[in-house]
Amino acid sequence: MQFIDNISDTRAVCRQWREQGQRIAFVPTMGCLHEGHLSLVDKARELADRVVVSIFVNPLQFNNPDDLQNYPRTLETDLQKLREREVELVFAPTNEDFYPPGEPVEEVDPGEISTILEGEYRPGHFAGVATVVKRLFDIVQPDFAVFGEKDFQQLIVVRQLVQRFAMPIEIIGMPTRREADGLAMSSRNLRLGAEQRKSAALIYQQMYELRQALLEGEEDYPALEQKMKTALEQAGFEPEYVVVRQAETLKPVTDAAQSKVILVAAQLGKVRLIDNLRV
Ligand code: PAF
Repeated sequence: MQFIDNISDTRAVCRQWREQGQRIAFVPTMGCLHEGHLSLVDKARELADRVVVSIFVNPLQFNNPDDLQNYPRTLETDLQKLREREVELVFAPTNEDFYPPGEPVEEVDPGEISTILEGEYRPGHFAGVATVVKRLFDIVQPDFAVFGEKDFQQLIVVRQLVQRFAMPIEIIGMPTRREADGLAMSSRNLRLGAEQRKSAALIYQQMYELRQALLEGEEDYPALEQKMKTALEQAGFEPEYVVVRQAETLKPVTDAAQSKVILVAAQLGKVRLIDNLRV
């Protein structure tokens, strides 16, 4: 496994692979890798000859300085896990290499979908994601890029980005990996205290109940959303949004036949949790 911390060497290695006719699958991450990330790496392995993983805690996508500061960084154990997966290249740039001081960063417009839900609660977040993902794609130029469905809205932003810039990259979305009690795997879970960790599973349990209600034909979405919000509040969460939306556009459901997704964001103590469930 090659470990490279700068853009020019990463470009050179990937260019050489392309020239040799090797297909590249890419998994962008911010590190602190768990089974969810590793399932993306396994998918990448199936798809291509060479697997590239990036590890970069992108400051541009953090609207909250505390969140950026406290984001877990575990490079050594991450590298060990990727070595075991026989990844060919890990690109882990420094901030200075990725965003050279004095060189203005051209912000990439994340599109209209970035103004709702996560975009509303985390202003600037998706512009930061679109900017880093576009730059990573330009460096690696993969054939495939694999993302988790846990960040459901991010996946749509990335798909639209690739379409808008006509990039020849196939975007693959992979199902959310969950702990035994249903909590979606996330690097931020490490920051939950023992009691909070137990409560955190309620998000999945409540989404599951909401989905059951929808499958049984209930259509009063605001009432169902409110019921789940109240249950979370009673358990000590501060929900930001609990919504049932159209799965492709995240717009409000206008016809019960549309494919739907439940999306949730809630603060539990100092930790912000997001999750979603397709109906
Ligand atoms: O999902 C993430 O970990 C990040 O948003 C990503 C896609 C690596 C961009 O920094």
